[in-house]
Amino acid sequence: DGDSSASNGSSGGGDDKIVMGFSQVGAESGWRTANTKSVQESAKEAGIDLKFSDAQQKQENQIKAIRSYIQQKVDVIAFSPVVESGWDTVLKEAQNAKIPVILTDRAVDSKDTSLYKTFLGSDFVEEGKKAGQWLVDQYKDSKDTVNIVELQGTTGSAPANDRKAGFGEIISADPKFKVIASQSGDFTRAKGKEVMEAFLKSNPKIDVLYAHNDDMGLGAIEAIEGAGKVPGKDIKIITVDAVHDGMQALADGKINYIVECSPLLGPQLMDLAKKVVKGEQVPPRVVTEETTFTQEQAKEALPNRKY
Ligand code: AHR
Repeated sequence: DGDSSASNGSSGGGDDKIVMGFSQVGAESGWRTANTKSVQESAKEAGIDLKFSDAQQKQENQIKAIRSYIQQKVDVIAFSPVVESGWDTVLKEAQNAKIPVILTDRAVDSKDTSLYKTFLGSDFVEEGKKAGQWLVDQYKDSKDTVNIVELQGTTGSAPANDRKAGFGEIISADPKFKVIASQSGDFTRAKGKEVMEAFLKSNPKIDVLYAHNDDMGLGAIEAIEGAGKVPGKDIKIITVDAVHDGMQALADGKINYIVECSPLLGPQLMDLAKKVVKGEQVPPRVVTEETTFTQEQAKEALPNRKY
């Protein structure tokens, strides 16, 4: 399911086009949609034959896709692991078949780093820290308790683990910050809304929502409005990603701060793939450059935002 092969106009056979097998997490968020588009467009531009499959947020589907790429003897496998653990066996299979693997967007927790050539993506701990720092700065003149609820990303995923850890590290410096509820919203709008509704029911005083991505924040905004509260005012909202809909909500004053996570990994991924296939040395870690946005900065950036 979800498999497709973009032929990129290849005449079929005979040419020495690089074949990449790419296993995507799913289509859970605006970020993911932009990431998929970036990968597909960049493959086309780079003349790489892309075999693409969507795992619908299930690790077993990703393992199946990777095994099928090994069987098809692709030149390189790239994937964005839905969760961090449980990859050693299949990565060993790729290594035994001499097919290089590139991790993109999300990391694995394998001890054996020879199982992949490089990891291209954001520093999610840093993103969490930036979110925490904004909060610390916002409340620096107040001694009152700040009640925070957290919408976590997909359980066990690198961005959920790391964004929680980075944020926690910064806010734990001051005991006035209290995370009173924290639960997964699976990085989706629907789940974000559902979990926020439950948070609102069981917690009469919520000051801040920290959502691990824009989509969950956008779902939560619906829940907050549904409860007769004003998002961005009664409850301050911090999210991560900076996709178009998130930036619009930020410009409209419904979100207060967004930490950027760039989905535009395609061009760098194709460059790395070409090098890896040629047997060239690549850096083991390539970190994406990203920024943060206030409401004013969102208004300025929106007209030129590509996704
Ligand atoms: O791995 C990146 C995360 O996955 C994005 O922040 C989130 O929106 C997506 O679902």
